[in-house]
Amino acid sequence: MAEALRVGIAGLGTVGASVARVLRDKAAELTRQCGRDIVVSAVSARDPKRDRGVDVSAAKWFDDPVKMAQIADIDVFIELIGGDEGPARLSVKAALEAGRHVVTANKALLAKHGVALAEIAEKKGVLLNYEAAVAGGIPVIKTMREAMAGNSVNRVFGILNGTCNYILTRMEAEGISFDACLKDAQRLGYAEADPTFDIEGHDTAHKLSILTSLAFGTKIAANDIYMEGISNITQADIRAAGDLGYRIKLLGVAQRTESGIEQRVHPTMVPTASVIAQVHGVTNAVAIETDILGELLLSGPGAGGNATASAVIGDIADIAKSRPGFQHGPVFGLPAKELRPYKKAQMRSHAGGYFIRLTVHDRIGVFAAIAKRMADNDISLESIVQHAVSGEAAAQKTVILVSHETTEAAVRKAVDGITKDGHLTDKPQVIRIERAG
Ligand SMILES: NC(=O)c1ccc[n+]([C@@H]2O[C@H](COP(=O)([O-])OP(=O)(O)OC[C@H]3O[C@@H](n4cnc5c(N)ncnc54)[C@H](OP(=O)(O)O)[C@@H]3O)[C@@H](O)[C@H]2O)c1
Repeated sequence: MAEALRVGIAGLGTVGASVARVLRDKAAELTRQCGRDIVVSAVSARDPKRDRGVDVSAAKWFDDPVKMAQIADIDVFIELIGGDEGPARLSVKAALEAGRHVVTANKALLAKHGVALAEIAEKKGVLLNYEAAVAGGIPVIKTMREAMAGNSVNRVFGILNGTCNYILTRMEAEGISFDACLKDAQRLGYAEADPTFDIEGHDTAHKLSILTSLAFGTKIAANDIYMEGISNITQADIRAAGDLGYRIKLLGVAQRTESGIEQRVHPTMVPTASVIAQVHGVTNAVAIETDILGELLLSGPGAGGNATASAVIGDIADIAKSRPGFQHGPVFGLPAKELRPYKKAQMRSHAGGYFIRLTVHDRIGVFAAIAKRMADNDISLESIVQHAVSGEAAAQKTVILVSHETTEAAVRKAVDGITKDGHLTDKPQVIRIERAG
């Protein structure tokens, strides 16, 4: 049997401790599958005394993960610390420069430094594996990098943040407010104490930027993503979406267009009958549309210790099965130096259907004025419905418009015009509609 593969785990939190536990519990199975043992020979975290629920005392302890990356007797450095700078970045860079394979679950690090790190890995002839960084346990990186050769991707989109999907699912199922759902998500451990990163779309954007690079062979451009979170979504939107045959999801979408590549993260209306609309709770899903394959949808657990550990272990097993001298494939599908600069399509030229919800004074002429603003901007409407607002706000009406395909620029101009006309009594709500099978 080949020599054991020695791994060093940096970070023994939710994911790191699960990885250590699975490597222990599934040791015999992994040895059979990989043809060699996998042993944890070094570990690093902040607190050496903390009970991790798994005994790692046989492994050499390092207070400093960078030292572990440089001097420990390891073949694979597993980074599960998190963060786009500091110890995560320094230790991954050090491990690659020392000629060690790296496995990471860190989307923030890859979104910011992925291409630079890939260049080092490719120069050194080692692997930088990151299956767990996008959609947790769903094998989307392998699928896009290895199983879709020859396919040209037109669009990739997905539900990439379990916290947001959990909140939107409960808002719809139970008719409760965004704030109440968020509080519950925090109590149940599905949302952080500071949820901004998840609910405002940053986490989805990091993951999307990695998928975009794989889909279109471009350099990662996480700062060039149009981003809107879900904190403005109300029960009125959820109910109106349902009445119109849609469900609201926070999607990350990357799409090839004539003017460049669109990368956008925003609440989106998808047809209730579509497959992606059936993805509920903390579950993630990624849809990939290509010229040869058509549309593929992968869905499954996007976070959590075990699901994420499953992807990390898969990456380790790939390294265990590779043989010395074997030429590894490039990190982002194409050699890092050949990744093209990202050509951004302006959001204003985005084309699609729009849902517009307006709360207006209940006065004669308002409805006609709204219809005129739409017509002036060449927006053709699929439906326009008005309802009286009950209760205290009886002098108001809600007008809900659904457009046929138009542009973002036209919608913004029309809504700005309606706002200037002075008919609105509340902020207008605009939600993009996404085609989905
Ligand atoms: N949790 C998930 O469901 C999930 C899913 C997909 C991807 N990920 C990614 O996986 C990574 C880890 O996430 P997590 O949830 O496991 O985080 P976590 O529970 O906060 O664990 C982080 C670990 O890093 C250690 N650490 C922090 N600073 C360190 C330093 N300077 N030196 C050495 N160790 C240090 C901590 O040590 P102490 O324990 O001693 O404090 C802790 O063990 C992140 O990149 C995250 O984005 C997580």
